[in-house]
Amino acid sequence: MTDFKKIISHAKQYGFVFPSSEIYDGLSAVYDYAQNGVALKKNIRDYWWKSMVQLHHNIVGIDTAIFMHPTTWKASGHVDAFNDPLIDNKDSKKRYRADVLVEDYCSKIENKMDKEIAKAAKRFGDDFDQEEFIKTNRRVVGYQEKINQILKRLGQSLEKEDLTNVKNLIEELEIACPESGSRNWTEVKQFNLMFGTKLGASADSAMDLYLRPETAQGIFVNFLNVQKTGRLKIPFGIAQTGKAFRNEIVARQFIFRMREFEQMEMQFFIPPGTQKEWYNQWKETRLKWHLSLGMGEENYRFHDHEKLAHYADAAADIEFKFPFGFKELEGIHSRTDFDLVSHEEFSGKKLQYFDHEQNENYVPYVVETSVGLDRMFLAVFSWALREEMLEDGSSRTVLKLPSILAPIKIAILPLVKKDGLPELGKKLMDDLKWNHEVSYDEKDAVGRRYRRQDALGTPYCITVDHQTLEDQTVTIRDRDTMKQERISIEALGGFLNKKLDFKNWLKKIQ
Ligand code: GAP
Repeated sequence: MTDFKKIISHAKQYGFVFPSSEIYDGLSAVYDYAQNGVALKKNIRDYWWKSMVQLHHNIVGIDTAIFMHPTTWKASGHVDAFNDPLIDNKDSKKRYRADVLVEDYCSKIENKMDKEIAKAAKRFGDDFDQEEFIKTNRRVVGYQEKINQILKRLGQSLEKEDLTNVKNLIEELEIACPESGSRNWTEVKQFNLMFGTKLGASADSAMDLYLRPETAQGIFVNFLNVQKTGRLKIPFGIAQTGKAFRNEIVARQFIFRMREFEQMEMQFFIPPGTQKEWYNQWKETRLKWHLSLGMGEENYRFHDHEKLAHYADAAADIEFKFPFGFKELEGIHSRTDFDLVSHEEFSGKKLQYFDHEQNENYVPYVVETSVGLDRMFLAVFSWALREEMLEDGSSRTVLKLPSILAPIKIAILPLVKKDGLPELGKKLMDDLKWNHEVSYDEKDAVGRRYRRQDALGTPYCITVDHQTLEDQTVTIRDRDTMKQERISIEALGGFLNKKLDFKNWLKKIQ
């Protein structure tokens, strides 16, 4: 995988992601999506939306406001329990999330494990049995046991709100401040992550509000409206994508942890008692969705939670192998009836469903799937960016995005800027633009134009040349293989529609 700094600079250089308000030196952990980034982000969002809403007859979409009545966040538990355990270093004055310090320590052990495995793989060559090696090699087993012990202790301490034990763990592991190397730590304290704001003109009458820290609550408070107006029968789901805001203290790693970010969430309403079955089913379905993008099974794993959020009776993360190690990409949570019951209590309104088959009223249970759109973007972008050595000894930078997600699907390149080739190229663009995102480029030598499209992740380049004038054929170049084929203009539409059809990707999920 490409070096992380290269990933960030590529994202900027090729118009994917810019630091926010850069002319004022940026704003920490806030980013803007540029012309290509916004298209990649939209394609990821569409891929998710289609898989959830279009392909499930019993899942509908919704788009609720970012501002919600402040009592929402009392009911959801965010006012009292949406905290991060923070620790300050007394020498550097830097503030950290205590759990992240411990997790980073474990990632370092994991890196050592990976190195042992890579060394052994090299030594044993084709005979190497990685699974067996991980199970039996003394050093690797020792590393894994150490990680398990540390994470278990961390999870249990956080669950019991035993922050002294978290501090003791940091001291026992001799974790030092990454900035200063100092081990002079304060106590661990809880810090609420919600951003506050005000609604109203005058200071006296203004109402204190929060920017929503998750999109899920907009779904819960509308549960009955949607169920009744849509005449939906349980089990059914409500999906939404939209912005969420968190005052993250350890905001780093580019768009991995942002203060303003986008979520793609789905709440699935089910009869009480069936949550285990649906939780397992959604874990499987969501993993399949990720795998359908072809980014390698070995880059995903589940992490079942020891420490459960205040609303959950089971929870797991789908983790992805980012350039800085395996980290959470998506959460799947069995939220019980916590949210709906709590909203009933705080609002005084019933949020119950009448089940005709069971002939009874009940508050449904909920299984939630929640994936960060920006994190998905980072997963796709960092996986796709490669530096490749070519047979002729030169190298190229290529962004091997899953083709359906690429911001530009097709680039039309007239071989030269004369002899009617630009006119022909523009005509082709006008024909293809109805179905695909097409760009047109006539500047520079064609080789350089190919390289530019490779760096943008464009899966197909179509070159219009002098032969096109004679026989109405063009060359089509595949980004990944760099192979060129001649194809008639007449057959082009059919070829591209087949290659770039969402259906061929999403079918892998079913
Ligand atoms: N409604 C449940 C919920 O919000 P979460 O695990 O806190 O659960 C879900 O967040 C997903 O949102 C995460 O798996 C991650 O992909 C994304 N996410 C959370 N905080 C984020 C942040 N600060 N920046 C970017 N993405 C974030």
